[in-house]
Amino acid sequence: VENCVLIITIDGPAGAGKSSIAHQVADRLGFDFLDTGAMYRAVTYGALSSDIQMDDADSLSRFAAQIQLRWCDQKILLNGIDVSDKIRTPDVTKAIRFLADIPAVRDQLSQHMRRIADDHDIVTEGRDQGTEVFPNAQCKVFLTATPEERARRRQQQLADAGQTLSVEEILLAQNQRDLEDRMRAVGRLRAASDAVVIQSDGLTPDEVLEKVLATVEVCIERQ
Ligand code: DC
Repeated sequence: VENCVLIITIDGPAGAGKSSIAHQVADRLGFDFLDTGAMYRAVTYGALSSDIQMDDADSLSRFAAQIQLRWCDQKILLNGIDVSDKIRTPDVTKAIRFLADIPAVRDQLSQHMRRIADDHDIVTEGRDQGTEVFPNAQCKVFLTATPEERARRRQQQLADAGQTLSVEEILLAQNQRDLEDRMRAVGRLRAASDAVVIQSDGLTPDEVLEKVLATVEVCIERQ
């Protein structure tokens, strides 16, 4: 990285607990936190709300180039409106691939992420942060867990929110998303060759946080 901004990337599959960990790491270090999944979600929500044909890549690319996205106080603003509460629906989750698969859309969003990190120390989480968006980041973590463990945690989260789903149902949707995230031509989910892989099966959230913080401290000391 040319300037003196510190960038910590946390990539990994859906349900590995990246958001919560990235958020806590950012808090501890006093860095900004960037949830890049929320950016993909907000563009998808915008496209769905604008009645754009989701199989029309040209229209989707034009749409992504026109909108204004802002990430402010842990909220995602689409054309100035806070859409944070609207982007985590199953409809948005299912439709994201239509946008995330388009290289031109990824390019727009990646440039935007780099602008956000231009003058801030950040902890950024997503799928391609350590590989495509910030290949020169000083510290890269790949946070993962087995599909079963991730599905079980998701089931617990949903249960806490009053929704009952079987682990099998969750696994089915999660496997589909893992496949889409791993197979995309550009920006696919994978660990950067210089990432530290943390496997969180059997660890409590606090233990995962301690492992990630220990990794991050080593990176920062090396600077
Ligand atoms: O982290 P999440 O579940 O909110 O991400 C939603 C989707 O957005 C994910 O399935 C793929 C896409 N995404 C991406 O392609 N690249 C990123 N850096 C982050 C998310």
